[in-house]
Order: sequence, then structure tokens, then C-alpha cells
Amino acid sequence: MTDQQTNAPSSAGGRATFSRMYDYLLGGLQNFEADREAARQLLQAFPDAADTARSNRLFLARAVRTLAEAGIQQFLDLGSGIPTQGNVHEIAQAIDPTIRVLYVDIDPVAVVASNQILMGNPTCHAIEADFTRPQLILDALTSEDLAAVIDLSQPTALLYCSVLQLVAHDLIHSVVAPIRDRLVPGSALVISHPGTAVTDGYDKASVSTVAEVYRTKAAAQIVMRSDDQLIALFDDFALIEPGLVSLNEWRPELGESDPFVAKSMPSPMRGAVGFRQAPT
Ligand SMILES: C[S@@+](CC[C@H](N)C(=O)[O-])C[C@H]1O[C@@H](n2cnc3c(N)ncnc32)[C@H](O)[C@@H]1O
Repeated sequence: MTDQQTNAPSSAGGRATFSRMYDYLLGGLQNFEADREAARQLLQAFPDAADTARSNRLFLARAVRTLAEAGIQQFLDLGSGIPTQGNVHEIAQAIDPTIRVLYVDIDPVAVVASNQILMGNPTCHAIEADFTRPQLILDALTSEDLAAVIDLSQPTALLYCSVLQLVAHDLIHSVVAPIRDRLVPGSALVISHPGTAVTDGYDKASVSTVAEVYRTKAAAQIVMRSDDQLIALFDDFALIEPGLVSLNEWRPELGESDPFVAKSMPSPMRGAVGFRQAPT
């Protein structure tokens, strides 16, 4: 059933999800009233929430462009979200139409919407899977269909954009390491993540209200990370310039202007891109 005004779905069993709240913040239509209500509460506590989502998408676009131009042929996007403007395959294939993309998300709405826009694009696919169970994803990549999209014996771009904040500190290395450590030299790792380097400067009550809205409305526990904690996730991947920075500071010349540039303040999210070097 759809909302008459917006043509958006109007009910989904009552509970908000992280992906559909994000879709609403980005101006998308793949969200339900529960998502819109939760996102409005979020915006009340943290008016920068929509700009933060937009800033994240723009960083993702610049990172993908950089990696496609560097010659990476396959992208594994974990927690890929509901398709919106500037999807990974669109940016990458504008540079090289033979680039392959596998989108992975736990939310069926995101997976169905992704496969809809991928119809007629045989080198890209979306699957429903939980990135916190990396061995299951590695197993799935051995199937004939998915091995044609992602071949881990070749350099791969592994994307974790605005997703790892959902993983607790004691689990994060066991979630990231199994896939990261399978990547061959020439592969890249992209991470964007809310960073305490910036969020510590925000009003503490607002930050805790944001966490509370996600916890109570979408059953999502948000974890902030320091720069040291984020850099540790890159392990031996060497960060390319400008290193780990607020998203608006990462190669801004490569894309549309970040909303935090106009506000003259740093994006609350930090991000970086690293490459695995060949062993010497
Ligand atoms: C904020 S969105 C980010 C989307 C996209 N990566 C981006 O940067 O624009 C987070 C996405 O992660 C997905 N997600 C959350 N937990 C997940 C899990 N355990 N496994 C796979 N996807 C997950 C959500 O469904 C949502 O679509």
C-alpha cells in the first residue's frame, strides 16, 4: 500500500529500520511512517542528521570514483542501503562499464530495490545477508553466480560506509578481519563512520538522544569510534591522502560540494580509503 501524496510505502509492520530512516533523511521514498516518525525525532535532537547522510553519500561517491580510476574492477559494498542518487555501480561504471558490484544488505527492502535498478546490468547484483557474519558472505561468494561478480583472487574494493557504527567494540575485529584479510594486494578498503573526533564537540544530550532514537525505534545500537579505533580497522592497508579526516575534507575537488563546507564546520563522520600493498 502506498502513501497517496508521495507514492511511498505507508506501512511495514510498524518498526523503523536503519536503512529506511537513512533513505528518508536522503529524501528517498522507500520508507514507511514508522521510519519517517523516527527520522523526524532524530532531526529534532540532531538537526545535522540529513546533512550527515548526504555528506556520507558524497564521500562514498568520491571514494568509488577514486578507486574506479585506480583500476579496481570489483566492488563489495557491505550494508549498501536502499539505492538513491549516486549508487556505487553508476559511479564506477561511468568510469569503466565493465566494473562489477555486489551489494549486500540485511534489509529486504534495500535488496529488492537494488535488484530492480540492476535489471539489465548483468555484472552487478544485490543479496540479502548479514555482514556481521562474514564467513557466510565468504561462503556465498564461492557460488557460481556470485563468483562471477566478486573474485577474491583479484583486487577488490571493500566498502563499509556508515555501517560499522552498528557493531559493538568487542565484535568489530571479528566482523571486519575475515573479509579484509582475504583481500589480495591492490585491493582497497573504504570506511566512513561517526567519529568521536567530531561528535565529542556536540552537545552530549543531543548525541545520546540520537543513540536512544536508533535503539528504541530501530533496534540499532550506535557505537562512536575514535580515530585510533578507526585506523586500527585498516590493519596493514596504507591510507591514501588525505588519510582519515572528516568526510567533507576527503578529496572535495572530486565531486559535489559537501553540505558541511557551506556550514564551515566538519562533518560528524570520519572517513578514509586504504590500499593493501604487495608484500616486499
Ligand atoms: C546508513 S545505511 C548506509 C548505506 C550505504 N552504505 C551508504 O553509505 O550510503 C546502513 C545500511 O546498513 C544496513 N545494515 C545494517 N546492519 C546490517 C548487517 N548486519 N548486515 C548487512 N547490512 C546491514 C542497513 O540495512 C542499511 O541499509
